[in-house]
Amino acid sequence: MKLIVAIVRPEQANEVLEALFRAEVRGLTVSRVQGHGGELERVETYRGTTVKMELQDKVRFEIGVSNHFVEPTVRAIMSSARTGEVGDGKIFVLPVERVHRIRTGEVDEGAVTPLAEAD
Ligand SMILES: Nc1ncnc2c1ncn2[C@@H]1O[C@H](COP(=O)(O)OP(=O)(O)OP(=O)(O)O)[C@@H](O)[C@H]1O
Ligand SMILES: [Mg+2]
Repeated sequence: MKLIVAIVRPEQANEVLEALFRAEVRGLTVSRVQGHGGELERVETYRGTTVKMELQDKVRFEIGVSNHFVEPTVRAIMSSARTGEVGDGKIFVLPVERVHRIRTGEVDEGAVTPLAEAD
């Protein structure tokens, strides 16, 4: 199992959601975050040029998946989040040691696999 963490532009977040839905990804968590992606803004001061680290609004997706879902999920995010401009974001794939579904007590694969009924 993996936890896919994707930081994307807020303007792309709905497209990412739709692409994930089409890829049959169901369980996910979304948060508004702020981040910095390396772009430095030059600021003129009376003592010369300095650089300022500006924080940008981003949206963070966290998606726990079984291994065979990793590539489809990454592809869905890549294609829906990309504009081609700097600042499109990043996708991190992290190992997951254990998952519990609280309601049923299911563990690991059983706990990350979506159930048919609505939650
Ligand atoms: N190494 C990192 N660790 C954690 N978060 C990061 C990292 N790099 C980028 N981010 C997050 O992703 C957001 C977007 O980053 P960004 O797309 O600018 O990355 P980049 O590597 O500079 O790529 P690009 O050259 O396309 O701008 C950042 O605002 C930050 O929230
Ligand atoms: Mg950047």
